[in-house]
Amino acid sequence: MNAPVKAVPTLPDAQTVTQVKHWTDRLFSFRVTRPASLRFRSGEFVMIGLMGDPDPVTGKQKPLLRAYSIASPSWDEELEFYSIKVQDGPLTSKLQHIKVGDQIILRPKPVGTLVHDALLPGKRLWFFATGTGFAPFASLLRDPQTYEDYDEVIITHTCRDVAELEYGRQLIEEIRSDELLGELIGEDNLKKLVYYPTTTREESPKMGRVTDKLRSGEIFKDLGVPPMTPETDRAMVCGSLGLNNDLKEILEGFGLEEGANSEPKHYVVEKAFVG
Ligand code: A2P
Repeated sequence: MNAPVKAVPTLPDAQTVTQVKHWTDRLFSFRVTRPASLRFRSGEFVMIGLMGDPDPVTGKQKPLLRAYSIASPSWDEELEFYSIKVQDGPLTSKLQHIKVGDQIILRPKPVGTLVHDALLPGKRLWFFATGTGFAPFASLLRDPQTYEDYDEVIITHTCRDVAELEYGRQLIEEIRSDELLGELIGEDNLKKLVYYPTTTREESPKMGRVTDKLRSGEIFKDLGVPPMTPETDRAMVCGSLGLNNDLKEILEGFGLEEGANSEPKHYVVEKAFVG
């Protein structure tokens, strides 16, 4: 008879890293295996992380976890995340060094407000992102429901410089050339998926904060759409606290009201993780 096989010690809720891409010295994305039992709605987040340093007294290690939006769509067999690198950030100072084959901790309990269920039906859906706030929209933009439920989808992404837009730019290109999504969007229907990138600290074709462009009406002129109304427009917002607050004020100014899973309305907001 064989001796019982000893279990290899592993992290609780461990998942294996399958891909890492560094976009700039401040940004990276990575993919991990997906727990077979994990079901989520595109746009939701989970807690992920690594084991922290041993406690100097007890020597015990505790998991260091943070909320991360899942950037992959709900049909994908792996999970993708898009992260900032903060050199003295408790988690990202370590997480930025992960390699294929490493393990991370992932608590399989998805939650969040950036979901289709939190919005009333509408005609035009706006996604407003800054920096890594693009992550939940990377999921929603790859979800067929987004194009089935709306006539027009507009994604705005504001970053400091052009290199920081690259993850989003490539993703939009992939979506347009994807067999299924590309067909849903339609080659000649330029309004079905509109990408509006802007930079604030480096020269690019469109410069400035999206908030200023909404206040001045420039964005509506650029895109050839009427100003937002609660009858036609729905919005999801993900960025820094400052962006979220400013956009809330702007959207409320257009008459839109904030929704939630339990009470769907016209717009929803979530803070992008930053540390
Ligand atoms: P800015 O360069 O004017 O601060 P970060 O990299 O710091 O997270 O910022 C990402 C992008 O979000 C930057 O282009 C930044 O512009 C922009 N941003 C920061 N705060 C706001 C805000 N309150 N409204 C609109 N854009 C903002």
